Amino acid sequence: MKIFLDSADISEIKDLVQTGMVDGVTTNPSLIAKSGRDFKEVIAEISTLVSHGPVSAEVTSFDYETMMKEAEVLRKISDNIAIKVPLTIDGLRVCRALSSDNTLVNVTLCFTANQALLAAKAGAAFISPFLGRLDDLGMDGTDLISDIADIYMNYPEFETEILAASIRSTKHVQDVALLGADVATLPGKIIKAMYDHPLTYKGLETFEKDWKATGQSIL
Ligand code: G3P
Repeated sequence: MKIFLDSADISEIKDLVQTGMVDGVTTNPSLIAKSGRDFKEVIAEISTLVSHGPVSAEVTSFDYETMMKEAEVLRKISDNIAIKVPLTIDGLRVCRALSSDNTLVNVTLCFTANQALLAAKAGAAFISPFLGRLDDLGMDGTDLISDIADIYMNYPEFETEILAASIRSTKHVQDVALLGADVATLPGKIIKAMYDHPLTYKGLETFEKDWKATGQSIL
């Protein structure tokens, strides 16, 4: 499973990219607002830092014509830009037009399996089902990943990757990996929480103590 970083925070991106665990970056208008930076500038900077993977940049209007104009500006920023469009009928039209033109499209704000089916038919490179926001409504977001995975499996001609989004916990990450999500986009704190385990640190303390007692050195 690929791991994307869900962030527009340059220092966080720099920090985590050097771990070698980050395969791409996703942003959205809320994350851009949180960064306090100019949208196009920050996307250009992220694209340079993560030149090895896709960087999702989201359009901000709702009608087909304006979304197409925005996509035209965004995709010129770098070759690794994936245009993020909302799962509306206009968004799906934009997805069809851009994907026919070999542009990666990430269809976002997906809350049902039928929406994911339409995104695949529209040629999306990624579908972004939002787990956490379904959990917020008392539903089980992981059921959605499971349904989409089953549907996509029935139609091998679909090339759309399942990009699990709105991930709020390490349990979510494990659940979507077990269900075969192609990608999970994660806030930095979740990536860090994935490797932190108290027993790892406790084990290291013991090994360090025992090693020192031998008086040896590897170097
Ligand atoms: O990038 C979209 C998504 O990951 C948002 O997550 O926590 O705002 O629901 P959240």
